[in-house]
This record gives sequence, structure tokens and C-alpha cells, in this order.
Amino acid sequence: MKIAILPGDGIGPEIIAQAVKVLNALGEPFELETAPVGGAGYAQHGHPLPEATLALAKAADAVLFGAVGDYRYDNLERALRPEQAILGLRKHLGLFANFRPAVLYPELANASTLKPEVVAGLDILIIRELTGDIYFGQPRGMRSCPDGPFQGQREGYDTMRYAEGEIRRIAHVAFQAAQKRDKRLTSVDKANVLETFQFWRDIMTEVGKDYPDVTLDHMYVDNAAMQLVRAPKKFDVMVTGNMFGDILSDCAAQLTGSIGMLPSASLDANNKGLYEPSHGSAPDIAGKGIANPLATILSAAMLLRFSLNRAEQADRIDAAVKAVLAQGLRTADIYEAGTRRVGTEEMGDAVVKALA
Ligand code: IPM
Ligand code: MN
Repeated sequence: MKIAILPGDGIGPEIIAQAVKVLNALGEPFELETAPVGGAGYAQHGHPLPEATLALAKAADAVLFGAVGDYRYDNLERALRPEQAILGLRKHLGLFANFRPAVLYPELANASTLKPEVVAGLDILIIRELTGDIYFGQPRGMRSCPDGPFQGQREGYDTMRYAEGEIRRIAHVAFQAAQKRDKRLTSVDKANVLETFQFWRDIMTEVGKDYPDVTLDHMYVDNAAMQLVRAPKKFDVMVTGNMFGDILSDCAAQLTGSIGMLPSASLDANNKGLYEPSHGSAPDIAGKGIANPLATILSAAMLLRFSLNRAEQADRIDAAVKAVLAQGLRTADIYEAGTRRVGTEEMGDAVVKALA
């Protein structure tokens, strides 16, 4: 079993090092191979997704990804910016199904900016389509505005589009995920304004006929944003497009008060996947040894569960994370009075110890 390790930029290398430590402590014969990506890929090979890195990701059974983003490279032409690494991996590996759970650990109930009664016990799953929509739609670019009052001026434009098969496959993933949970699925769209999302709604309804045990409802994205903050526990599984999913998953993450705790998985049709923390490269705290490695460690657990068929090992890691929280260990992002503040490495070591 080969795992590609792509640390990336900012806090990426520090948090990935902790997850690697945890993987190595499991006593499994995994082969881990590391390659640069993002700003680090550009610095070493002149491209955010170097050919050798992409080849490694393709050859591996799963990819563990840190984070990309480095302000030093923000002014490069778009194709060379760090973000292109993750977009390229998603596209080249066909990782169309993005799982973003938002779970509030009882020990962290006070970390949320929302009242505890609104978020206590929160456990929702956002499924975001990841390789279509306005993110990848063609044509896109800059041109001379063809009509209207601004005709002749420069304009930027993108294209929102979804093919039927693209909607169907993410719909099946979402219904099947709901079947394993509380059997409630909310499809989020903007069918009142956008053709793309009227079509999305129609296909979701059609696919829903194959899953009579799952209750499907539809919600406009603006209302969904409001309901996420007003009464988030009413949701079980949400499914939506690439753009709305990007925005709503950040909102859902903040409900838990600690984006540093949230893992994610991006899967292809055969459960090959890329696993990464939901947070970014956090350049402001990079190199300080204070970043929270738990989202990355929990991402490694998801990797074992979804792509390597090692549910028992994933359970061990999940239990070890719960144990260190119960011991009162906290990185700065989740610190509160009465707990013990630890750094990135100390947190990683504590998880390894709790595995035993
Ligand atoms: C995410 C990020 C990416 C996205 C960026 C870095 C391209 O925000 O994974 O949510 O927009 O998908
Ligand atoms: Mn995002």
C-alpha cells in the first residue's frame, strides 16, 4: 500500500509530520513517499504541481495532502499559483466527491462562536461536487464586453455548467452517504435563478427515486447559509455544487469553532482519494510549532477508512484523538482556561501515545 505524502506550504509540513508519525506508529507495512506541491513545488521545480508529484499521486493508493498557499507566489500568473496544485490534483485524479464533515467534539463545545445549545452535538456532512461547476467551466477569461451599457470595456467571465452524468454520480454518492447516517439529504441549489441549478434539482429528484428510504429536500443556497447558522443540527447530509459547497463548508466548519479539527476526503469513483485538513496553509503561524495537527491526523484516519480498507486502524486514531482532548491537551486555536496548551509536536506525540 503506497501513500503519497504532499506537505505543501505554510504549516503543511509541520502538521503532515505529525500525521506521518501516527501512520508509522500503526505497525502497518505502508510505503510513504513525499513530494513537493504548491509554492514548494514551484520553488523546487517551477510548477505548483510538478510532473513527478502528479505521477506519484496517480500511482499511490491514496494521497495525504497538507495545505497550499504562499503569499510570495500570489502575483504569479494564475497557472503557476499554489492553488492550482490542488485544483489540478482534483481534476487529474477525477476526485469529484468531496466529504466535509462538521463535527463538534463535546470537549470543545465552548470553542464555537455560536451558543452551545445551538451547536452541542452537531454532526453534519457536507458533500461538495469538486470537479465541475463554475470552477472548471469553459469558456472563461477576459474579453471585451460584447453588449449592454458596458460594451467595449474589459470584462472577466466564467461559465457555470453541469452535465447530467456529473450530477448523477454525486447524487448517488450523497444518497448512499445519507443511507449510512440519519437518511436525510438536503440538496442545496439556486434553482430560482440559475438554469444549471434547476437542472441540478431535477436530476437530484430523479436519482432520489432509487433511494426511497432517504428523505430528500431542496433548499436555496442563501436560505441554507442562514439555516446553517440558525439551526445547524436540523441538517444531516447536504449535497451541493462546487462553488456553493466551497462557501457553505467554511461556514459549517466555523460552527464547530475549530477549523483546526476538521478533516476532509476527496474521492474518485473507485474510492481512491486525496485527504486533507479543511483549513489552509496559515502562513501567519507557519514555522512556529503551534498549528493544530488534529485535522490532518483525522484526515489520515479517513484515508485508512475510505481508501485502504483499514477501518480498525481508523477507529484507533479517532479514539486516540478523543483521548487527548479528554486529557485536556489543546493547541492554541482551541485553548481555553483550565486546559493545557501544547504545540504541534507535543499534540502529535500525545496521539501516538494514546494509540497504544
Ligand atoms: C478549498 C479551497 C480551494 C477551493 C482553493 C484553495 C482552490 O478553498 O479546498 O475549499 O476553493 O476549492
Ligand atoms: Mn474553500
